[in-house]
Amino acid sequence: MSDASPFRRLMVTGGAGFIGSCFVRDLLARRDGTRITVLDKLTYAGNRANLAPAEADPEQAARLRFVQGDIADPVAVGSLVAEADAVVNFAAESHVDRSILDPAAFLRTGVEGVYVLLEACRHEQERATRGERARPPRMVQVSTDEVYGSVDEGESRETDPIAPRSPYAAAKAAGELLARSYFVTYGLDVVVSRGSNTYGPYHHPEKLIPLFVTNAIDDLPLPLYGDGLQRRDWLFVGDHAAAVAFLLERGRAGEVYNVPGGNERANRDVVALLLERLGKPWSLVRSVPDRPGHDRRYAMDGTRLAGLGWRARTTFEAGLAATVDWFVANQDWWRPIKSGEWDAYYERQYAARLAAGLAVAPAAPSGEPAAPSGTT
Ligand code: NAD
Ligand code: DAU
Repeated sequence: MSDASPFRRLMVTGGAGFIGSCFVRDLLARRDGTRITVLDKLTYAGNRANLAPAEADPEQAARLRFVQGDIADPVAVGSLVAEADAVVNFAAESHVDRSILDPAAFLRTGVEGVYVLLEACRHEQERATRGERARPPRMVQVSTDEVYGSVDEGESRETDPIAPRSPYAAAKAAGELLARSYFVTYGLDVVVSRGSNTYGPYHHPEKLIPLFVTNAIDDLPLPLYGDGLQRRDWLFVGDHAAAVAFLLERGRAGEVYNVPGGNERANRDVVALLLERLGKPWSLVRSVPDRPGHDRRYAMDGTRLAGLGWRARTTFEAGLAATVDWFVANQDWWRPIKSGEWDAYYERQYAARLAAGLAVAPAAPSGEPAAPSGTT
């Protein structure tokens, strides 16, 4: 944080996950004195190893505290928010496919957990009013472009209606609506970010890019849903974390900000690029039955955030190359994750799909993929 920043003591929830840990690592690496308390439940997706680079550096480690706990637990949350100038909430169940299999945890963390954080902030705001702390805390609620639902054409603006279509997206929408309601009703200092599809080092291997990279390294099949022509806008994790840090300092209270990556690609083109980087053949790709309710496309307009002076910097080609190379070089990080609980999840999510899967014809040179070949 800048020297003038009032946010010197941060509480970062979900800080052992993919994006939250990048936020923590990058902020501590600025060596500006900012102190961070991470509150993380360490679900299957949370990983202390994600914070290892900061913990290995004595100066950074001295400014980092890790607390294992649940954001839906008011006791765990209350005392930590009392010590914080700001709360940055990354904690969520984040995988759409798991929300289709088992939605309950998504609601517990995404709705009840956000409510508990907001209530703790409201309590601290009242303390500030009574002069018991210098100023009320700010809260940044990290949300997603998925709240807009599938966008066939054009780009979503922050003023557009939201229309989430998966239990994951609905829980995220509920969380950010609650956050907004606390701004309107109680004047709480809340900012909401809506990031697009994020990728990079430390990405859990359940998600498209790390799943396909790690499977391809082992010459395992790559289960591409449906025709693979769904489109996502890819945002490098360092850019996403930087945008959240920027909004923490510069976002207007009560406002929502899109955080686009500016890298819209069809899934098939993403897969072709990562295979090229790995030097692995397209013949690993299988066309498998689609995700139910699969959103066809996300795209956001970034004018509001650009107006504050921020835009993503990383091109998809550079970010993907760095990501693929990181997974090749860091097999000690991801191999343990693809074992234990992973096996039951993979079986449930993919066994029947892969059994029904077809080989996929390679993308045509124009970038317009040919139809699936229909051979197994
Ligand atoms: P992730 O699944 O990698 O990490 C989530 C972290 O939250 C994990 O460390 C997990 O242990 C922790 N957690 C889960 N439930 C918790 C609870 N009840 N209490 C405390 N900690 C809990 O997720 P991610 O990809 O890093 O996403 C972080 C945030 O960004 C999420 O809110 C997600 O909705 C949002 N987001 C993600 C993307 C993306 O593409 N990954 C894009 C836009 C927005
Ligand atoms: O858009 C932001 C969202 O991006 C975040 O809010 C979510 O937390 C994050 O998980 C991500 O959601 P997606 O559903 O877009 O990501 P995922 O990696 O699961 O899938 C990306 C695309 O790839 C999507 O069109 C589905 C497809 N896919 C995914 C998997 C895991 C496949 O074709 N096969 C797969 O096995």
